[in-house]
Amino acid sequence: MEERLSARDEDAAEWRDEPRRLGVERMKQRNLLYERGTRSHYENAEYYDQAYRRRRADIDFYAEMASRFGGPVLELGAGTGRVSRAIAEQGVEILGIDSSEPMLERAERRRKKMRRAARELLEFAHGDLLELRLGRKFPLVIAPFNVFMHLYDREEFQRAMDTVRAHLAPGGVFVFDVLVPDLRALLRDPDRLYSAGTVSLPRRGRRYKYKESFNYDPIAQVLVITLYFQSLEDPEEILTQTIAHRQFFPAELEAILHYEGFEILERYGDFEREPLLDFAESQVLVTRLGATPYSRSRTSQ
Ligand SMILES: C[S@@+](CC[C@H](N)C(=O)[O-])C[C@H]1O[C@@H](n2cnc3c(N)ncnc32)[C@H](O)[C@@H]1O
Repeated sequence: MEERLSARDEDAAEWRDEPRRLGVERMKQRNLLYERGTRSHYENAEYYDQAYRRRRADIDFYAEMASRFGGPVLELGAGTGRVSRAIAEQGVEILGIDSSEPMLERAERRRKKMRRAARELLEFAHGDLLELRLGRKFPLVIAPFNVFMHLYDREEFQRAMDTVRAHLAPGGVFVFDVLVPDLRALLRDPDRLYSAGTVSLPRRGRRYKYKESFNYDPIAQVLVITLYFQSLEDPEEILTQTIAHRQFFPAELEAILHYEGFEILERYGDFEREPLLDFAESQVLVTRLGATPYSRSRTSQ
């Protein structure tokens, strides 16, 4: 039987719904922020390459994976081609996909400068790893340098794993890395700006004071890092970038992979293959598709 609410009850119901409505607004804002946190840091691809120019160990690690498991390799979130160029240079065919136009443009420009034999083994394409379906299979799929930290909830993670599954040849291997959550960074005061020296930004010809702020949502497990660049010449000029990173605690990641039907073959705490112990910086995972995903087989019963 349908119960009618009295006027007073209706008021109360509206009042009760208010937090829910506010919640929806917050969710929308949150999603916009995360959306920005996937794009913003990758809009200045030259700065990306400059900022990470000393990061080499992961390139060597993934290049070794390509020699070991063979090609063609599919790289999800290939960025400016930092890793894929090294793989092509050692004679393994690789296709890199990315959703960021500026990153892909730079990747393509740099590809054209490679020697011919390597250049012809490397291809880039625009694509979203949440929905990519190439109709091709690969013995090795990789997602280097925190790409999966841009998957903000269970559904996105599941979609990404569906993409990996759709492109893995039988017995194929999926290798990726994400950061170990840094508890000190997660606990930082969100209202504070943390100074991190000065930098120069490509093409601008100026030096900037560089600061960062950290805002962690402990329920969604997403850390939003805002990077501030304040010109030393003109303090009014302030540029910002946002990075939103889903945090994966190691035992949680191990469980998700298990329920997705992936077996962890190897797990390291860095790219020199040190074990994953406390205070490790990254979780580097070499996985293989095993049985049917546990969660799916349960729901389809
Ligand atoms: C930290 S960069 C890593 C790039 C490259 N793998 C490397 O090692 O330098 C993360 C990359 O993931 C890409 N990315 C994030 N979400 C994506 C998505 N849904 N589909 C495709 N690429 C995505 C970004 O555009 C960015 O280029």
